[in-house]
Amino acid sequence: MSGRGSFPDGFVWGVATAAYQTEGAVEADGRGPSIWDTFCDTPGKVRNGASGAIACDFYHRYPEDIALMAELGVTAFRFSIAWPRVVPEGRGRVNEAGLDFYDRLLDELLAVGILPFATLYHWDLPQPLEDAGGWPARATVGAFVEYVDAVATRLGDRVHAWTTHNEPYCAAWLGYGAGLHAPGRTSRKDAVAATHHLLLSHGLAVDVLRRVCPGAEVGIVVDSWPAHPATDAAADVAAAREVDGLRNRLFFDPLLRGSYPEDVLELLGYDGPPVRDGDLAVIAAPIDFLGVNNYSRHVVHASSDGSGPIVQPVARAPRTAMDWEIYPDGLHEVLLRLHREYGVKALYVTENGAAFIDTRDHDGRVRDPERTAYLEQYVKSVGRAIDDGVPVRGYFVWSLLDNFEWAEGYSKRFGLVYVDYPTLERVPKSSFYWYRDFIAGAARPSLAPVVT
Ligand code: FCB
Repeated sequence: MSGRGSFPDGFVWGVATAAYQTEGAVEADGRGPSIWDTFCDTPGKVRNGASGAIACDFYHRYPEDIALMAELGVTAFRFSIAWPRVVPEGRGRVNEAGLDFYDRLLDELLAVGILPFATLYHWDLPQPLEDAGGWPARATVGAFVEYVDAVATRLGDRVHAWTTHNEPYCAAWLGYGAGLHAPGRTSRKDAVAATHHLLLSHGLAVDVLRRVCPGAEVGIVVDSWPAHPATDAAADVAAAREVDGLRNRLFFDPLLRGSYPEDVLELLGYDGPPVRDGDLAVIAAPIDFLGVNNYSRHVVHASSDGSGPIVQPVARAPRTAMDWEIYPDGLHEVLLRLHREYGVKALYVTENGAAFIDTRDHDGRVRDPERTAYLEQYVKSVGRAIDDGVPVRGYFVWSLLDNFEWAEGYSKRFGLVYVDYPTLERVPKSSFYWYRDFIAGAARPSLAPVVT
């Protein structure tokens, strides 16, 4: 069996978004500033000086967007909760008006039968916490746990699945190491400390969620792209292993095995994680599922001067507008690895999708055959993983809507629905209709007799 036939009954078909990328309304109902507001205000950080101040205005237009999801036929919606709406100062006072928004959102989702998958941290740290040291500071862990408690207490009766963090690699390494994302720091030591504290805060949050909402599924979302050596040369193989270590195993190993990988610790030397007694056991708290975001792969060369691995796109390979190689086999590889090497018992593909240059035709419609082709191939790859025995429980397209793509601003469109930014009009693209029809077919058992 392959493709559509592989998906078991109850397989979750969804779409994903995140708060800062879609909500806008950054000053509504007592929301405080986040590191992304500050980063966007810093000249030169975000393409065209864009910000999430308005974004898709999902904060006000969510009923319209839920109607679109109902038309699409998805069974789940993955969104994130904005910490600065809930605890505007990062710590202390809880802003009930901020929670009211998510309260309304959950009720409307459930009213149309869509399961809420809520992410507690999708990169929008309250600015006061960054001012006090950010994720490299251990105190931020405690602040996160208090915030999670407040959210779970108010919303825990209606959230189907929680994910503590989205892509801790990006939060730590793009934000504190490469400086490409908020808060824009460039220190390897800070990136490693942020990694450790994000993971530790995940483990502690799992404990809170188990206590406050025992009926919900609890997990974390990691991004994983395979790292392949560009050639069989030993130096390239070693370079690829290094990239795999920093981008994948630095997260998989503590979360799923309770230890940091030795080779990565060696590589980091004095910049190693600030581990205290008991931390690793907390980080490895049992979870109900692992969420995986996958878009592409890394192809790695060793540098000729020994200055470290070089990640280079494969010449002539098909790419998306992000310049990411279209490599559907990579998703199959990652799912297999997590099940076979790490023994993960339940997986969701929590993000997969593509940016292309979408434009409206003369008739006002948006035709995006490239996105449909991309999604078809990646969904097939998930089907193959299921055929190979991997317990994949669901798949979410990134994204429902075109939205604020971080440092790329509004220049990269990932949506199944086109957003006309000047008017905020929503226009379902042809890929939206493909996904709708695909889900409708996948959800209905075949009428053909089963031949055994
Ligand atoms: C992922 C992020 C998500 C989105 C996609 C394109 O890394 O989790 O917010 O930006 O990439």
